[in-house]
Amino acid sequence: MAGTEEKIDVLTEAKKVYDPPAEVVESAWVRDYDQVYEQSIEDPERFWATIAGELEWFNPWDRVLEWDYPWAKWFVGGRCNITVNCLDRHVRGWRKNKVALIWVGEDGASRVFTYGQLLREVNRCANGLKGLGVGKGDRVTIYLPRIPEQFIAMLACARIGAIHSVVYSGFSAQALRDRIADAEAKAVITADVGYHRGKAVQLKGIVDEALEGTPSVEHVVVVRRQTPPVELHPPRELDWNQLIEQASPRCRAEVMDAEDPLYILYTSGTTGKPKGVVHVHGGYMVGTYITCKWVFDLKDEDVYFCTADPGWVTGHSYIVYAPLMNGATVLFPEGALDYPDPGRWWSLIEQYEVSIFYSTPTAIRALMKYGDEWPRRYDLSSLRILGTVGEPINPEAWLWYYRVTGERCPIVDTWWQTETGMIMITPLPCVPLKPGSAARPFPGIEADVVDREGRPVPPKQGGFLVIKRPWPAMKRTIYKDPQRYEQYWKTIPNVYTAGDVAFRDEDGYFWILGRADDVIKVSGYRLGTAEIESALVSHPAVAEAAAIGKPDPVKGEIIKTFVILKEGYAPSEAMVEELKAHVRHTLGPIAVPSELEFTDWLPKTRSGKIMRRVLKAKELGVDPGDISTLEE
Ligand code: PRX
Repeated sequence: MAGTEEKIDVLTEAKKVYDPPAEVVESAWVRDYDQVYEQSIEDPERFWATIAGELEWFNPWDRVLEWDYPWAKWFVGGRCNITVNCLDRHVRGWRKNKVALIWVGEDGASRVFTYGQLLREVNRCANGLKGLGVGKGDRVTIYLPRIPEQFIAMLACARIGAIHSVVYSGFSAQALRDRIADAEAKAVITADVGYHRGKAVQLKGIVDEALEGTPSVEHVVVVRRQTPPVELHPPRELDWNQLIEQASPRCRAEVMDAEDPLYILYTSGTTGKPKGVVHVHGGYMVGTYITCKWVFDLKDEDVYFCTADPGWVTGHSYIVYAPLMNGATVLFPEGALDYPDPGRWWSLIEQYEVSIFYSTPTAIRALMKYGDEWPRRYDLSSLRILGTVGEPINPEAWLWYYRVTGERCPIVDTWWQTETGMIMITPLPCVPLKPGSAARPFPGIEADVVDREGRPVPPKQGGFLVIKRPWPAMKRTIYKDPQRYEQYWKTIPNVYTAGDVAFRDEDGYFWILGRADDVIKVSGYRLGTAEIESALVSHPAVAEAAAIGKPDPVKGEIIKTFVILKEGYAPSEAMVEELKAHVRHTLGPIAVPSELEFTDWLPKTRSGKIMRRVLKAKELGVDPGDISTLEE
């Protein structure tokens, strides 16, 4: 019966409210959430203007917000460049020789950059790109593993006003090609290889394949890590070192309008085509800066370790831009959490005295599976604040994370999205915690849970998570698809519909339950069911396919697919493997279905849309709800 008792323990523990330790509250940037929140909501524009005043601008703004529903402009008339706040501002003062970035390779090699060194490297790269004819408004696709060049390339683009589009290096050739083509990138920055679990992942080959049929690309810059170096084909292809060696370490930051685009980041939606979410210099800079400072209570002494990849929004906002704007020391290791052993992250925390650790529920659950012995082997006393993002965290994983790190570090469960740019709903370290809840909105943010008509639902009743007014780091548009942008604000009139279902409890705490649409979260990675389906139907044997997310104790969700084969093809194990390999090749390893079932029927509406909801209900053995639209 030990198992039952343990479960009951978890249930009672999970229901407890965890008050932050007094010493955390006393020294926190924000000590009284309610007061700061109330004030911010009374006059949000004043609130955001005060925050913006903590950063450097070439030219102040005339108006804080211009809201022409559903289009927003923030800090109108302001001129800035986000890299000035990431780098120059620190280099002019005492942080010049402070460590900005510590990179650690899988083999233990490390590279350290002070703020001064990072600025010089960024400038060199910026000048190198200029030499290639890349300038303001041009798009540059960055397809790099977790190496310092990823930071440098992103910042270099921003420095000269080019728009970066970082593509996660776990995406395959076709996914990369689609993103390069949509952005019409002028240059691609990549590496020969990335390292994962001791294996070299060949990235350059993927880029070569992706570049077939992308005529916009004039140059490919390659970081060469292997010896003998991979062969390049000039003049289109050139070596990263050659590009920057000759370049001057001085480069003035381009004066950008606050509303000029900073980057495009492709994310999955409900159709097969990924959406190019556009963020801008000014508002994004303000929103990410202050959330990073207050949510993680970031101080100069902190060593900050976020385990995400800069290929996703978490990496953009909370590995690269916001920690640097706050003058933090960022630890940035390459490789997997359990290589060479499951103590990898804990040992890095001990070795570099990490004080702020931001990760995902999937990673926590994976570490939990390896057991207490791994965290126990290391001195974790440097930790101060813990975070999670990307998917709901189950109370059991929350409690484990809390316990193995000493039961003294607040866990900030941060809810946000690629589209929001910044953390939106989260505890601040001074707020009492409830395991599994993302607590309350960040100051300046008004969130609610509503029904389809936009009417607030009572506490403890599920509904759609919405944001009720614009915020500075919100996406400005979907690249080349403004109508798709408008949908977010028009699904329920006048509010931003996030696509998540949630409820609030009697204390106003938000509990995020998951997606309300056809987006799935596999290990926290965001994928669209339609993307997976279109990868499958691009195989000659497949007539139709449907994908659903199926709950999984570690990954949150796994992908299950149902496939109807064309006539002349027969189901077999070999066919399963072939189709999985096809998805891997088309989209990337993260999109490979864990389960693939052959079927000769898929539930559809009368208009022919696959009812994934019905498939999912059948799979889980639950009531499918209203099926009146199901065809016979
Ligand atoms: O469903 C929510 C989930 O992740 C979605 C956004 O995914 P993406 O744009 O890839 O950004 C992830 C990193 C910011 C959301 O719509 N999500 C994100 N954070 C949480 C979450 N679900 C529950 N709790 C969270 N803390």
